[in-house]
Amino acid sequence: MKPIQVGLLGIGVVGAGTFNVLKRNQEEIQRRAGRGIAITMVADLDVARATEIVGPDVKVVNDARAVIANPDIDIVIELIGGYGIAKTLVLEAIAAGKHVVTANKALLAVHGTEIFAAASAKGVMVAFEAAVAGGIPIIKALREGLTANRIQWIAGIINGTTNFILSEMRDKGLDFSVVLKEAQRLGYAEADPTFDIEGVDAAHKVTLMSAIAFGIPVQFDKAYVEGITKLGAADIKYAEQLGYRIKLLGITKRTAKGVELRVHPSLIPSKRLIANVEGAMNAVVVNGDAVGNTLYYGKGAGSEPTASAVIADLVDVTRLHTADAAQRVPHLAFQPGSMSDAPVLPMGDVVTSYYLRLRVADQAGVLAKVTGILAEANINIDAVLQREADEVGGEGGAATVPQTDLIILTHDCVEANMNAAIAQMQALPTVLAPIVRIRKEELA
Ligand code: HSE
Repeated sequence: MKPIQVGLLGIGVVGAGTFNVLKRNQEEIQRRAGRGIAITMVADLDVARATEIVGPDVKVVNDARAVIANPDIDIVIELIGGYGIAKTLVLEAIAAGKHVVTANKALLAVHGTEIFAAASAKGVMVAFEAAVAGGIPIIKALREGLTANRIQWIAGIINGTTNFILSEMRDKGLDFSVVLKEAQRLGYAEADPTFDIEGVDAAHKVTLMSAIAFGIPVQFDKAYVEGITKLGAADIKYAEQLGYRIKLLGITKRTAKGVELRVHPSLIPSKRLIANVEGAMNAVVVNGDAVGNTLYYGKGAGSEPTASAVIADLVDVTRLHTADAAQRVPHLAFQPGSMSDAPVLPMGDVVTSYYLRLRVADQAGVLAKVTGILAEANINIDAVLQREADEVGGEGGAATVPQTDLIILTHDCVEANMNAAIAQMQALPTVLAPIVRIRKEELA
């Protein structure tokens, strides 16, 4: 049988990796797929550079629509990224009856409902293993490997840039802004790192995992998103003293009221395996009712790790190309007619535990006032630590009164109650600086 023909839109780092790995491992890939897979056409604005990568046997054009219009192309790989032209081209490829493989988490997290509906109507596949955690086959695991389970929750380190920054902050005791500059110098962080450091990239990824885990539509607009830009070295140090590490987690959880969908820095016990995932590596813990906790670890970005996921999708699509569309694995794991309407909960309804740090005046009765407010709000304290403040300052700047840091860990409570308690504590004249609040996940 002649090889299935693939058109590639955008040959950057991942595109080049895909071309190279497909070529290098073609014989084994063919034995697995039951048929050869060949990239026969590439669209890229830089035709000369693209030609240098793929050589003279592959047709290179600067117009993506020429790839989509080519009747010999069965699968289109979209590696352009973003919500703009990539969305138009993906929808046009689907309309032309092509299967689509994409690494575009932003596009699917925001416009997935429209794209999957268009693909289902046309009987084509949209595969996106590379969109979440790069080379880790987490989509396959959630959609197929864990299909027997009622999935309860997922927690993942799904952004390598921020994990690298947090690892450096912890190792070297440095503040966020210093490490960010170093990460940019080393090429770990983009020149514009906003999506990574503000948690948006992780929120795109956890939105996709949530949809697959719980059979709900993709709802990026309902995700709570908080990045790492406000984290201080002091909190990382105090967390460590209490037996925790701070990681940027993407969390989604099934509750009786709906689905939690959130990205924010979280304390996790240092003894958990995922707490020891360092540098730019990614890891995802999935809890299923039958299997318990499972952990997936690996490279979440990079040329060949991401190519590994793109090619896995190419093999899947090749195997299922001639199958009855109704017999294929549904895009979001659940049959389109069997999706759940469980709501994504507002952050105020989320139940979790907390780390609080209060810069307070070091005088009698301050701790009693603070713990009194927490008690009134029905918030149960787990641990309290008092530490001499490293630097003095706070509102007003002057160290006219002795200052100290109060660090409080709480048990689970409703976020809305915690917000109210923080507002009351903040209003105390003896609380001298904005209260630091970091959520805590035991991941037991
Ligand atoms: N920028 C992402 C990261 C990789 O730092 O993990 C692509 O999503």
